[in-house]
Amino acid sequence: MSSIEASLTLHATPNSPIYDSKPFAYNASKAAVNAFTIHLAHELRNTPVKINSAHPGWVKTELGGEGAMMDIAEGAKTGVELAILPDDGPSGGFFHLGEPVPW
Ligand SMILES: NC(=O)c1ccc[n+]([C@@H]2O[C@H](COP(=O)([O-])OP(=O)(O)OC[C@H]3O[C@@H](n4cnc5c(N)ncnc54)[C@H](OP(=O)(O)O)[C@@H]3O)[C@@H](O)[C@H]2O)c1
Repeated sequence: MSSIEASLTLHATPNSPIYDSKPFAYNASKAAVNAFTIHLAHELRNTPVKINSAHPGWVKTELGGEGAMMDIAEGAKTGVELAILPDDGPSGGFFHLGEPVPW
């Protein structure tokens, strides 16, 4: 489970939604998760195992807080979608609700 906060591209883009959100420890830890996704997907590229990063959205949990936009069921969708990918589904990607998120 990653986060949009992992995105180096969006952090480097001044008008992106996360440009001013720079808690370094959290963001760097999620960027490391994404690096692991790419490396593990490569390691397992000749197996049926799929490795992807997920951004769940901004979800009303203890972490996300009451101000978050998505309820918990909505926030679970990306992770569940990636957990039940078909055999020809993607591996080594970064997704939110079926759409790619920039690295
Ligand atoms: N909520 C958002 O808006 C949002 C956005 C982007 C990404 N994410 C990511 O989504 C994931 C889930 O976040 P959440 O919003 O559900 O957060 P949360 O409500 O704070 O829940 C965090 C969960 O992690 C467990 N946990 C924390 N430290 C642990 C440890 N050292 N060992 C084992 N379990 C530990 C907690 O267990 P206990 O309850 O037992 O303490 C809890 O179940 C996280 O990786 C977060 O970074 C969330």
